[in-house]
Amino acid sequence: MSEQRFGLDNIVAWAKRKWFVYPGSDIYGGLANAWDYGPYGSRLKKNISDARWKFFVTERDDMVAFDTAILAHPQTWVASGHVGTFGDFLIDDKKTGQRFRPDKLIEDHIAVHGVTREQVKEKYGVDNLIPESWGAEKMHEYIIKEGIKNPDAKKDADWTQIRKFNLMLETHLGVIADESSRVYLRPETCQSLFTNFRNLCDTTRVRIPFGMAQIGKSFRNEITPGQFLYRTREFDQMEIEYFVENKEEKAQEAFDMWKDLSMHFWKNIVQLKDDNLRFREHEQDELSHYSRGTFDVEYNYPWGWGELQGIANRGDFDLTQHQKTSGKDLQYKDPYTGERYLPYVIEPSFGLSRTVMAVMLDCYDEEEVKEGDKRVVVRFPFAIAPVKYAIFPLMEKDEKMAGIAKDISKNLRKQGINVEYDGGGNIGKRYRRQDEIGTPYCITVDHQTLEDNTVTIRHRDSMEQERIAIDQISSFQ
Ligand code: GAP
Repeated sequence: MSEQRFGLDNIVAWAKRKWFVYPGSDIYGGLANAWDYGPYGSRLKKNISDARWKFFVTERDDMVAFDTAILAHPQTWVASGHVGTFGDFLIDDKKTGQRFRPDKLIEDHIAVHGVTREQVKEKYGVDNLIPESWGAEKMHEYIIKEGIKNPDAKKDADWTQIRKFNLMLETHLGVIADESSRVYLRPETCQSLFTNFRNLCDTTRVRIPFGMAQIGKSFRNEITPGQFLYRTREFDQMEIEYFVENKEEKAQEAFDMWKDLSMHFWKNIVQLKDDNLRFREHEQDELSHYSRGTFDVEYNYPWGWGELQGIANRGDFDLTQHQKTSGKDLQYKDPYTGERYLPYVIEPSFGLSRTVMAVMLDCYDEEEVKEGDKRVVVRFPFAIAPVKYAIFPLMEKDEKMAGIAKDISKNLRKQGINVEYDGGGNIGKRYRRQDEIGTPYCITVDHQTLEDNTVTIRHRDSMEQERIAIDQISSFQ
């Protein structure tokens, strides 16, 4: 395995070439930062989503599944705080008309110039290096005083004042596009879990502690989308709301449990490399409006550490807000004591699209097999690889070999296993094609198969081959 890390350009080019992810609306010149998952990418995404669902939902007895609508009553977003506070700061360069996030401009300036917390405290009176928490005025002062340039044009800018920009995408229901018909495309999947809390408690026998889980699309009108699937305006989230008694120690216990489970998921199920994962606790000034405490699981992307998953202690913020706004009683009634209360909630929130990208970055490799012979090999774990086995007849012209290879493919497909039959080209080339899409095993039907029903199995990572009986194939996982 090479120790080299590959840049995003490499991964984006490979993802297109090998049918994983295509630029959205390509034939119309593309829609910026929109991506479509192709034949292998869509399977990879589904496999990751299924592996997560199995680990966090199917294998547990305290989780219920949901699949809620993207469009919700607009009051949902008033109650959740999104109408009032869900936004990013932005600043325009009047010379070029370009728009930037001032906090990101300052973060980059701090990183490049090695600015310390003490320096910003002395000069600007703020006691952290999280510009977003300084407010519009302070950020503007910093940008002007430090002479921050337009990073694209690399020239002096004529900066506007800083404004807040709401990130929710809106649309209108029905034929009249006025205020009364306005609805939002959900910016997170969790709110409709909170608004279903009462339905769930009224119609089922859920007992605290329990979790609600769903996977679905979210939308944000991001000001600075980019870095491939990292920040897009349409993306997939996998969220869990885990309800516990309204006691701090219960919330802390659940928080610690979800931290451990999350890291276990990343390291042992998705199998991202240990060195590329870490926890980062949010500082007080950085917390979202709903959070009492947040830990991010961060991944070491080619441009540095960044969020992969968030785990937040939301207390009873959401249920309180929805109870107030809807006027409906959302309290949980303890079946044993009869006590009624609004439970606290711990939220592990995963980005699926971001995970697909992290997996591609983590697994993609180029290695020198022998002098002058390089291969691209993508080391997807078996559970998430888009193709599990590739089945080859040594010679496709030999009808018997081709027939057996096709039968093996058909049988594995019937077991719900994704396989690929490939009869074209020499075996070496066929192996390399599969290495490039991360297929863990290649199976070759040859002369000996016709005599004793055995095949060769070639391991993607070690490239070693061994002889096995046909009915042993699916035991290799
Ligand atoms: N309900 C809480 C919530 O939505 P978040 O940290 O804003 O929290 C959770 O989002 C996860 O969703 C992130 O960790 C990230 O993986 C993913 N995510 C958020 N915004 C995204 C975007 N614009 N593009 C892709 N993934 C995004």
